[in-house]
Amino acid sequence: MIDLVKNFSISARRMKKSVIRELLKLTHRPDIISFAGGLPDPATFPEAEIKDIVDDVLTRHPHTSLQYGPTEGIPALRQEIARWMTRSGAKVEVENILVTTASQQGLDLVAKIFIDPSDPVIVELPSYVGGLQAFSAYGARMIGVPTDDDGIIVDLLEKKLEMLQHEMEHYKFIYLVPDFQNPAGVTLSPERRQKVIEMGDKYNVLIIEDTPYRELRYSGEDPPSLYGLCDSGNVISLHTFSKILTPGLRVGWVVAHPDIIHKLTVAKQATDLCTASLPQDIAAEFLRRDLMEDHIEKIKEIYLKKRDCMLNALDEFMPKHPQLRWTRPDGGLFLWLTVPEWVDCEEMFFDAVEHNVAYVVGNAFHCDGGGANTMRLNFSYPSEEQIREGIKRLAGVLKAHIKNKQPTEDEVDYIV
Ligand SMILES: Cc1ncc(COP(=O)(O)O)c(C=O)c1O
Repeated sequence: MIDLVKNFSISARRMKKSVIRELLKLTHRPDIISFAGGLPDPATFPEAEIKDIVDDVLTRHPHTSLQYGPTEGIPALRQEIARWMTRSGAKVEVENILVTTASQQGLDLVAKIFIDPSDPVIVELPSYVGGLQAFSAYGARMIGVPTDDDGIIVDLLEKKLEMLQHEMEHYKFIYLVPDFQNPAGVTLSPERRQKVIEMGDKYNVLIIEDTPYRELRYSGEDPPSLYGLCDSGNVISLHTFSKILTPGLRVGWVVAHPDIIHKLTVAKQATDLCTASLPQDIAAEFLRRDLMEDHIEKIKEIYLKKRDCMLNALDEFMPKHPQLRWTRPDGGLFLWLTVPEWVDCEEMFFDAVEHNVAYVVGNAFHCDGGGANTMRLNFSYPSEEQIREGIKRLAGVLKAHIKNKQPTEDEVDYIV
């Protein structure tokens, strides 16, 4: 065989195996309780409705459902998405919408049309790993800005923007997961949303709002979306049916200014010509029959219980330690645990797997190599019984690591 390494493109050589996927391979044993994945609970899939819709559309218009479709997405779906989003207060017209093969494709297309090698883009610390992968494939230089319980810290964001402007760097966009973030579960506060929009305008930078979890709120009030707050066309908003219908459909959509939609459409033509028509018909018909709202209520009922179950188990089983804390998300699928700084979550991972419990090491979500003492826990997939038992096991492993690895007084002096 030819020398592949020599023949791979620069961007293919840049693509790295996901640490998460490698570690997840260890967690497929049936006796392991895994908080590592990010899968929806299959009990939330509306199987009967989808069966009925497939039967219906294949009877009414098999030739279009099984045919190629327009790159922008089938007209019925774009119209239904516009109707659904408008009902929840957004100003969205059909020409603002591009249907994508779920939001991961949205991320790839955004990277494809905006990033040249070495272009700086701003991401959160921590940030969605699939976003980091998509941007780095195109050679982006990721610049991380820390987050807290209210999302990205806007003062630090402004410092970075000022610095880049001062250095005459042509930064491309700020990438945010503002609602129940993957991985940390935190939500950008309304005040910070306003500031982010102002900064986008002031520094002339685009904002990518990636929001797969926005509809999955279990407590608290919805802040306005970044897209809704912005009048200048500077926000590109990525959405998906993966978490509110099923990820197997692989249907999502981008909402943006028509000029951006046009360029994304051209980029999508070379990627997959169009998103598969039958899944688009399913999503369109689900919306047309007005099934979505009730369906989302059902999903929320299931996940609310699971979230509370995980929070209660953490309160009950985790050791009390001033450096041990976790986020209390109002929605989404994840929460984020920060452990004392001398505990290395990657090292502890193998011990956790020995004790039949798994998580994702937080380091994988940090573009700056940080986050060694953090982890992401998923509560949507395991059952409530598994959540309790899994957190109990994890607490046992963590207790041992906190105690065994605690620096001695001499070491503390030395570290100081
Ligand atoms: C923040 C974020 N963006 C994008 C995606 C990709 O989702 P999909 O491609 O299934 O729409 C995910 C999946 O978990 C995610 O958490």
